[in-house]
Amino acid sequence: SQSHPFYGSGAQAGVFTPPQRHALFMTFTMVAGTTASDLQSLLARWSAAIAQLTQGKSIGAVEPTRAGAVAPDTGEAFNLDPASLTVTIGLGPSLFDDRFGLKDKRPALLTDLPDLPSDSLQPGLTGGDLSLQACADDPQVAYHAIRNLARMVRGTADTHWTVMGFGRASAGAGQYTPRNLMGFKDGTRNITEEADRTKFVTIADADQKWLEGGTYQVVRKIEMDIEIWDADPVSDQQHVFGRTKDEGAPLSGTKEFDTPDFHKAGAVNGLAIPATSHVALAAPENNGGVKILRRGYNYTDGINQYGQLDAGLLFIAYLNDPAHFITLQKKLGSSDRLNEYISHIGSGLFAVPPAPATGHYVGEALFA
Ligand code: HEM
Repeated sequence: SQSHPFYGSGAQAGVFTPPQRHALFMTFTMVAGTTASDLQSLLARWSAAIAQLTQGKSIGAVEPTRAGAVAPDTGEAFNLDPASLTVTIGLGPSLFDDRFGLKDKRPALLTDLPDLPSDSLQPGLTGGDLSLQACADDPQVAYHAIRNLARMVRGTADTHWTVMGFGRASAGAGQYTPRNLMGFKDGTRNITEEADRTKFVTIADADQKWLEGGTYQVVRKIEMDIEIWDADPVSDQQHVFGRTKDEGAPLSGTKEFDTPDFHKAGAVNGLAIPATSHVALAAPENNGGVKILRRGYNYTDGINQYGQLDAGLLFIAYLNDPAHFITLQKKLGSSDRLNEYISHIGSGLFAVPPAPATGHYVGEALFA
């Protein structure tokens, strides 16, 4: 089983790492009355623990030798492989206030996302002082990581909102393209080239030095009206996305990786790829060349109060300017045919500091 180093340079693991099979995302709020040194020690302890966990180690004894001792590690990942685990730490805009003396350290671009068209955000599913994205090829390994990281900061940070993902709905370089819960290939046209990572994901000259080499994380919990979608003819579903269902080809071509031709003549108002389709609205060709790194996962919350399947997409994107997401979502939120079948119910923006050098911790430069 593969393991990814936590320490290094450039982005934290879990940003460019080829998406693992499963994900668990959780946000936290700092407990009232906590101070800068509490935050500092939380980040230091999380970092040291993540470094252990990603190497398949426990974060302390599973079976302490001292009689009556509580185990520092809860044990459910004991003897399991690292399973490509990565845990990525994000810092929310709300952290940069007087509580921690961090007002002057807030990057200008790190502010709450504005209201966006067709938002139906639930108050309990927005924001957060801190975020953790745990991804692994074994869901038990991802769960164990989050559980133990939450446990070790009890009294300092409270859990806020969470999304339990399964089944990646994005692709990295060289990976096959998986499918989202609408049954379409997701991640066909994503950022894979180094040049695009540099241009659109990595923060180069930030107003805040501590964030250089890091990135921003946009997270949206997007609910799908699965039953309604399933009753829609596949021919129409294909017009919603602008791609075929089986092959995943743009409606202007025949193969998945054919470059879409948004001007090609066809059946929907004279076009092969409808102008209101998801890909026509989101493609860089129609957005001044802008690209975002999508790293989404499918999620399910079981069944809702009406007995319907409660599921959707845990949309996670990495980008060096939140405006790139905002511009895209303004367009999608007002014109995308997909809106008939989805609602954005959760949302957060987080700054993701670069990976720490060995022995250091995420965000350490904030306290220098
Ligand atoms: C492409 C699904 C939400 C941005 C795609 C594709 C699918 C898809 C099937 C085509 C395959 C591909 O190139 O990856 C979904 C679903 C969503 C969702 C089911 C919600 C439940 C979003 C959101 C954004 C977004 C919120 C950004 C604001 C993009 C972009 C592309 C894309 C940039 C690539 C377009 C291209 O270059 O051709 N999405 N998406 N998507 N989506 Fe989404």
